[in-house]
Amino acid sequence: MAFLKRSLRILYARAEAVFDWTFGQRANPLTHLGSLGWFFFWIVTASGIYLYLFFDTGIIDAYASVEYITNDQWYAAGVMRSLHRYASDALVIVVFLHILREFSLDRLRGKRFFAWLTGVPLLWFIYICGITGYWLVWDKLAQYIAVATSEWLDTLPFFGEPIANNFLNSSTLGGRFFTLMVFMHIFAPLFMLFLMWLHIQRHARARVNPPRPLAIGTAITLVVLSLVYPAVSQGPANLDVVPATVNLDWYYLAAYPLLDVIPGGRLWLILVAGSILLSLMPWIPPAKPRPAAVVSLDNCNGCGRCFDDCPFSAITMGPRSDGLAYATEAVVDVDNCVSCGICAGACPTATPFRRATAIVPGIELPDHSIAQLRERTLQASASFDNVPRVLVYACDHSGTEGAGGENTRLINMPCVAMLPPAFVDFVLSRGLADGVMLAGCAEGDCYYRLGDRWTQERVAGTRDPYLRKRVDRDRLILSWLPSGSKRRRTSALAEFTASLEKLPAKTTSRRADRA
Ligand code: HEM
Ligand code: SF4
Ligand code: SF4
Repeated sequence: MAFLKRSLRILYARAEAVFDWTFGQRANPLTHLGSLGWFFFWIVTASGIYLYLFFDTGIIDAYASVEYITNDQWYAAGVMRSLHRYASDALVIVVFLHILREFSLDRLRGKRFFAWLTGVPLLWFIYICGITGYWLVWDKLAQYIAVATSEWLDTLPFFGEPIANNFLNSSTLGGRFFTLMVFMHIFAPLFMLFLMWLHIQRHARARVNPPRPLAIGTAITLVVLSLVYPAVSQGPANLDVVPATVNLDWYYLAAYPLLDVIPGGRLWLILVAGSILLSLMPWIPPAKPRPAAVVSLDNCNGCGRCFDDCPFSAITMGPRSDGLAYATEAVVDVDNCVSCGICAGACPTATPFRRATAIVPGIELPDHSIAQLRERTLQASASFDNVPRVLVYACDHSGTEGAGGENTRLINMPCVAMLPPAFVDFVLSRGLADGVMLAGCAEGDCYYRLGDRWTQERVAGTRDPYLRKRVDRDRLILSWLPSGSKRRRTSALAEFTASLEKLPAKTTSRRADRA
């Protein structure tokens, strides 16, 4: 499993490098697959509502109404039909890429199981929506789907009377089942929307909208595709004639040809067993639990910054329980806390400058304390042999290990946003290094979701706790790259080191050594 994930990660990193170059890192579609899924869902919904105005829901006139939509009103409803189809196909593509990517990045394990688990029924609903949609056109493809699906459904022991009897020939054709399909095609998307909402419930500020340039580019591509290759029907259904050939939409209908070689009952078994196996993925093999963030009430002033910054909604601000004169205190929900440490980076009390008392911030990870981080910083600084000395604070997922040269020291942590900005000030003002690099996952694609965004905003001074203005920005660099991009990280480090060579070397202040 680990090998599979690593291989996929490398593949994605290569593809992302190409896409970064083409679209720019911020609009890279591979780092916005979830939000693109939402975007396509809304296009399918809006175009579907428009089509419904002209669609005749009776089996007799359905085909004629779709022909009217496609030919007579090609410029409006016709384009909507094509958009409806192509956005649905695009939804399947981005969802499969999204699943593989989240799997490769391991964003499903331990306490992060929830999105994965809710994603599995979502997959079923995507297919129910797609298949019932093709059915409604009532052309030859719809006839093939109607017959194959009803025979397939009949292999289940739930139906008293075989459904396939509805589709034996034109004299037995029953409108009731067709109407049921219409209802399903309208109500299944509502369930899908509910599941999509549930899917992101453990995410604070879930990204459900792609960046504007990506959204506009995607929408234009779909419209152009709709005009160049309009979606068309495949001739009216006629139950008295078995369709010789039909063009399948492989994104939705790939399972159907399998029915020719695998008995329907067995195919159900395969799909159900596959779904169960997929649902169990977050626990294969079981993840090693890490301790959740802990609050030290003596040091918490109830400012709420950790609550604002936690990407997994694992912190609430509760009423004060210790009698101190603050209105609220931070409370960690250990079931939701994924131990990213971002809250510690947000806490104003997490500063390396304090020395009168032991460093215990309002909130921190027990296995990555702020006091340890300060100690590691001092040790790394003392071990430099060459100048310019570059201190790299990197997240565990950035693949920075081994990327630096002899003048580089690396301090790893779960997420680079765990580093309180005061540390950068501490390092540079005390001359502990000549330059600092903050290295994290690709921009907009932090393993812990929001770490890159918070770090950038803290450094830019637009988010508390911000990096003080006095810090020389020429000595600080932020580097966002996907894991598996060691070569790109090495060259980013080399470039930064070369830029530091042009600046005067720093001297270590004696104050820095006083613990
Ligand atoms: C309509 C289909 C889907 C849509 C629209 C969708 C959308 C999203 C969105 C918006 C996010 C949050 C991104 C963020 O803000 O960080 C997300 C995360 C995720 N999704 Fe999906 N998703 C879909 C289907 C699936 C499926 C089928 C699976 C897997 C079976 C899946 C697995 C995940 C995982 C593992 C995460 C990350 C959870 C984490 O960060 O802890 N998704 N998805
Ligand atoms: S460690 Fe991460 S998930 Fe846990 S409370 Fe802090 S910010 Fe939230
Ligand atoms: S950021 Fe620190 S001080 Fe503010 S509420 Fe959270 S734990 Fe308390």
